[in-house]
Amino acid sequence: MPMAISAYLQPLFFLIYFFNVSQTTAQAPSMNTTDSSCSAHAPDFCDAYVVYRARAPDYMNLGKISDLFGVSRLSIKEASNLDSEDENLTSDQLLIIPLSCCCGGTDFSSNVSYEIKEDDSFYFVSTFVFENLTNYQEAERLNPSLHPTNLRSGDQVIFPIFCKCPTYDQSKKGVQFIITYVWQPSDGISQVSAMFNASVDDVTSENDFRNFTAAVALPVFIPVTKLPLLPKPSNSHASGERSRRHRLLTIALWSGIAALASSLACFLGFLHQRYCRREALDHEGSESEIGDAAKLKKAFDSQESSPRIKQGKLLLPGLSGYLGKPIVYETKVIMEATMSLAAQYKIGGTTYRATINGEVFAVKKTKDAKEELRILQKLNHTNLIKLTGISTDLDGSTFLVYEYAENGLLNEWLYRSPRLLQAPLLFSHGAKE
Ligand SMILES: *[C@@H]1O[C@H](CO)[C@@H](O)[C@H](O)[C@H]1NC(C)=O
Ligand SMILES: *[C@@H]1O[C@H](CO)[C@@H](O)[C@H](O)[C@H]1NC(C)=O
Ligand SMILES: *[C@@H]1O[C@H](CO)[C@@H](O)[C@H](O)[C@H]1NC(C)=O
Ligand SMILES: *[C@@H]1O[C@H](CO)[C@@H](O)[C@H](O)[C@H]1NC(C)=O
Ligand SMILES: *[C@@H]1O[C@H](CO)[C@@H](O)[C@H](O)[C@H]1NC(C)=O
Ligand SMILES: *[C@@H]1O[C@H](CO)[C@@H](O)[C@H](O)[C@H]1NC(C)=O
Repeated sequence: MPMAISAYLQPLFFLIYFFNVSQTTAQAPSMNTTDSSCSAHAPDFCDAYVVYRARAPDYMNLGKISDLFGVSRLSIKEASNLDSEDENLTSDQLLIIPLSCCCGGTDFSSNVSYEIKEDDSFYFVSTFVFENLTNYQEAERLNPSLHPTNLRSGDQVIFPIFCKCPTYDQSKKGVQFIITYVWQPSDGISQVSAMFNASVDDVTSENDFRNFTAAVALPVFIPVTKLPLLPKPSNSHASGERSRRHRLLTIALWSGIAALASSLACFLGFLHQRYCRREALDHEGSESEIGDAAKLKKAFDSQESSPRIKQGKLLLPGLSGYLGKPIVYETKVIMEATMSLAAQYKIGGTTYRATINGEVFAVKKTKDAKEELRILQKLNHTNLIKLTGISTDLDGSTFLVYEYAENGLLNEWLYRSPRLLQAPLLFSHGAKE
């Protein structure tokens, strides 16, 4: 059964835009609490995860939590291995939230934007809303234009969430992610390591052999070789092998999107600061990206009058509405809709015309969804194309389900090589040059 849902990638753009706020060249103070400093032995950006506890009254469903972190419900559901996006959470239930981690100069962090509500303070939001995954002194430093004692409802505040990228050495040894976890009073090192299926030695050395008893209420880093299945409330049943496999595939896809967002976010940040430049180029493998990024930036800047971007305002609450409900189709549905990819449904390349529930879509089969989505983001910016669903099959192919369009730029992109379309052409539509 297809899960209820609908998605546009466009919000990724805004997310990226938000990362790219202007900044001063302040020195990061040493955080004697948790050391998340960047390293020459680690990439400057990566996918990372944080553990968040569902908490009454406000943060008891994925909608609220995905709005808080500006990530999709689906991605949280997948990372946390929940059965459904609408599942009722229990108090203190642990969720795994995927974030893009980026070296912002001296320290890794994932900047999350938060809209101040009545009576909020930096301290309250850091310690209770974000549950100490961030630090209020750091937040105050990052938001120099805001008076800590005089916050007003509607102010947008950036909270740097602690995160870290594995070093190249760790990656070689199989460490895929570093998870940020806030130490609890009742925690012990062996119990926490076991919960994440990480070795005690790895956890201790990752945290510079700090005294964990003194780390209560502070973030610690857990290096993992794969995402753990955290304990679930007792009434839910364990998932079978098939759904586990599906979860892994979907996570892979979503981390692809996240990686895309993080690399672009970091990359655009370099227009203001150079830190991650070399890394980003290595990552994208193309010098021409600089030009593209500059154009992206320009396009954003020229969009200030758009209703979606009010200058200085971030629109994260709307984000999960878009990103949070992509249609995830079972491969079976795609196969039925295209008569198992029959030749007469082929429109060109690996794209097929598909009829799903009476509506016509274009379905593109791809091995490299990441590259497709990268280009889609650019196209999407000009509102030419809409991704409405995805499906992954078991041999690693991804089906991207698009609005069907008879002609125009969209056709060119869908039915021929994506490389035919270069960003400058596209942006001449989006941004008046
Ligand atoms: C953390 O560092 C600050 C100064 O940077 C210092 O005043 C404070 O005592 C330190 N806290 C601990 C627990 O070491
Ligand atoms: C969640 O809880 C609400 C009310 O407590 C209930 O109406 C709803 O059916 C529950 N949803 C699920 C998926 O159990
Ligand atoms: C987070 O935002 C601050 C302030 O805009 C900026 O200085 C910093 O580089 C950003 N960090 C990351 C990791 O993007
Ligand atoms: C965060 O840390 C403070 C003390 O540093 C503590 O009072 C508070 O309860 C912690 N928040 C959570 C959600 O555990
Ligand atoms: C825990 O990790 C080890 C390797 O580090 C692996 O062999 C084992 O299957 C993992 N256990 C679970 C439950 O994931
Ligand atoms: C660890 O910290 C706790 C609480 O701050 C302290 O009582 C204990 O002596 C410390 N242990 C070591 C080995 O430093």
